[in-house]
Amino acid sequence: MKYFDDSWDFKKAETKEYTHCFHNYPAMMIPQIARRLLMQFGYNARLLFDPYCGSGTSLVEATLKGVEAIGTELNPLARLIATTKTTSLDKPILDTCLKKFNNYLFMLMFKPYKMNPKLPHFQNIDYWFASDIQKKLATIKQYIDEQIEDINIQNFFKVAFSEVIRESSWIRKGEFKLSRMTVAQRKYFQPDIFGLMQLKLARNRQGLLAYSRQCHAKGQVFSFNTVTQVPKHLVNNIDIVITSPPYGDSRTTVAYGQFSRLSSQWLGFNQANQVDKLLMGGKLNNSSAPLKFECAMLNESIAKIAEKDQKRVKEVIAFYADYEKSIENVAKTIKEGGYVCYVVGNRRVKGVDLPTDELTKTAFEKNGFKHIETIIRNIQNKRMPSKNSPSNVAGKIDKTMTREYIVVLQKLGI
Ligand SMILES: C[S@@+](CC[C@H](N)C(=O)[O-])C[C@H]1O[C@@H](n2cnc3c(N)ncnc32)[C@H](O)[C@@H]1O
Repeated sequence: MKYFDDSWDFKKAETKEYTHCFHNYPAMMIPQIARRLLMQFGYNARLLFDPYCGSGTSLVEATLKGVEAIGTELNPLARLIATTKTTSLDKPILDTCLKKFNNYLFMLMFKPYKMNPKLPHFQNIDYWFASDIQKKLATIKQYIDEQIEDINIQNFFKVAFSEVIRESSWIRKGEFKLSRMTVAQRKYFQPDIFGLMQLKLARNRQGLLAYSRQCHAKGQVFSFNTVTQVPKHLVNNIDIVITSPPYGDSRTTVAYGQFSRLSSQWLGFNQANQVDKLLMGGKLNNSSAPLKFECAMLNESIAKIAEKDQKRVKEVIAFYADYEKSIENVAKTIKEGGYVCYVVGNRRVKGVDLPTDELTKTAFEKNGFKHIETIIRNIQNKRMPSKNSPSNVAGKIDKTMTREYIVVLQKLGI
């Protein structure tokens, strides 16, 4: 059954409750979707898995409901955010650390000569940050590294710091890709770094305290790649998957790696500029034989794109080949009777619609699942581009993805 249902739009919903108020991330899932799916299909669930957990929306919702949650993610910045959003902290300890930090910033107002941090060196740092901003950011970084011992509290500070990095850089606001402000915009751009950091910390503290009061389950975030493997202990162990996979490769859809790069460089994550290549569809399949997928509709779309553009079709195939392998591995993790709920977008390439929802359905069916339903919803407040470049030509845009598909299947008994 496939049907449109606008009660899944959550038009006026408050999407920033609990730790959902932390750090923005591209194409975040709306918490209400994960919440409702858990209510409908996870009533007896004890363990949820999100194979592309991003900033951890499903994990937060599961743990709030008392369901243990496991996520995996290849982008280190997303792992940091998801881990921090699902880690309760002790209020008195957190408040003592916040007070000490605020006192330190207050002291610097009167003794700015005490600000002598070691500046990081990474490619293009001067292209993205003014020198006075670099000095203040480095001061915060040094404080986090040297004055905060507890790793969970360090992470809490790092998540706030990462947002300050983005907001104080010369990245054009409202864009995921790295593009720089104009000279005129840069001239008048003077963010208050310490004030911003204090604001983020205060907001996140409120969210975290609300989360910690209500959460009684554990969330864990890993970095395994379901395209190639799933850990043995997860096989036949998961009650429910609630996830939103990427829409396509990062180069031509949502650039998760680019979005995260400056924060990752400041935070010292390895291979900060390689992330997009590691993600699904990041490596092209150079075999000349056309791949056939489980889904006839997808094969037809791919044939149409191939007629128009041989290079583009390779990118599309590379993504779906990884996606199918990932589904095969995710399918192994689900217990008999367990559910998978995939929130997917059908993107358009070269004017051809790619039915990711249909591929999701047929790929799970091939792996022993029964299709329950596909709900079509309008995208209201998800933070993602509603326009893209289907031809991949700068300036040529097409409206895309104003709807998404919630594909639900159940694992059959053997
Ligand atoms: C649509 S986002 C998920 C957003 C998430 N639901 C949230 O609310 O923040 C898709 C995520 O998949 C991740 N990803 C892509 N390929 C992956 C892979 N092979 N394994 C794990 N994660 C992957 C991307 O880094 C991105 O964070």
